[in-house]
Amino acid sequence: MYTTLLTSLENGIFTITINRPDKLNALNNAVFVDLNKAIDEVYSNDAIKSVIITGAGAKAFVAGADISEFNQLDAQTAMALSKAGQDSFFRIENSPKPIVACVNGFALGGGCELAMSCHFRIASDNAKFGQPEVNLGLIPGYGGTQRLVQLIGKGRALELLMSGAMIDALTALQYGLVNYCVPQEELLIKAQTILTLIQSKAPIAVAKCIESGNAVFDESTNGYATEIAGFGTCFETADRVEGTTAFLEKRKAVFIGK
Ligand code: COA
Repeated sequence: MYTTLLTSLENGIFTITINRPDKLNALNNAVFVDLNKAIDEVYSNDAIKSVIITGAGAKAFVAGADISEFNQLDAQTAMALSKAGQDSFFRIENSPKPIVACVNGFALGGGCELAMSCHFRIASDNAKFGQPEVNLGLIPGYGGTQRLVQLIGKGRALELLMSGAMIDALTALQYGLVNYCVPQEELLIKAQTILTLIQSKAPIAVAKCIESGNAVFDESTNGYATEIAGFGTCFETADRVEGTTAFLEKRKAVFIGK
């Protein structure tokens, strides 16, 4: 089904592995076609409860957009590429199901942008992050200028954007760009443990957490109003009745996603 991705579904966790290790998993057009299909699957397949995105091999998560496709672009086609990439990453960011980036090596350019569009990030100890586009006479085009500022603050983000410098996993942890830094062999296990915990919660409530958190950065909406609406929606779910009843009955809640 996919030419550039490996996918697996186990215990509700859909793992998407970008699989071009000889090119450090660079995002070419074929990867975007596959990634969009995989995101469709995330939205439409009820058996998928949460998602991990990672890269094949021990060296790279994704080393950026595929630079070999850049030379034929002019301003118009470059803007279309940027818009299409942003749209793909918006769909990751706005997924009602949690999506975690397991950053197993270089996350540069579009790779860092892909990781930042996920709901949170876990790094292996060999990971390196950066937006090196300035080295190519470019700026990030898949949301990197926006999400890097959101995640690590303007001063640190602008230093990284303007210098093209890379940071290691421990610095990314200190900056708050990643939630954890673990040995590479523990990377997927760490994500699976967290996602299994999240999957035991009420799915509609989880989706509303994502929607309300994203609304902080969405100028077209008021985040507090989004929270009010989400709070109200949760009150009409069977899972809310189950959750509050189970607490009062001193038992563990069993959620059904309705
Ligand atoms: N686009 C296209 N190809 C890429 C790529 C990218 N973003 N990143 C790596 N590759 C390719 C290399 O061209 C090389 O291919 P080849 O073996 O056919 O020559 C292969 O992946 C391995 O990369 P290489 O550069 O030999 O590995 P390295 O260990 O010496 O360096 C990096 C690793 C990540 C530092 C280096 O590959 C790099 O700087 N990549 C580009 C990062 C970047 O600028 N990203 C932003 C793009 S907008």
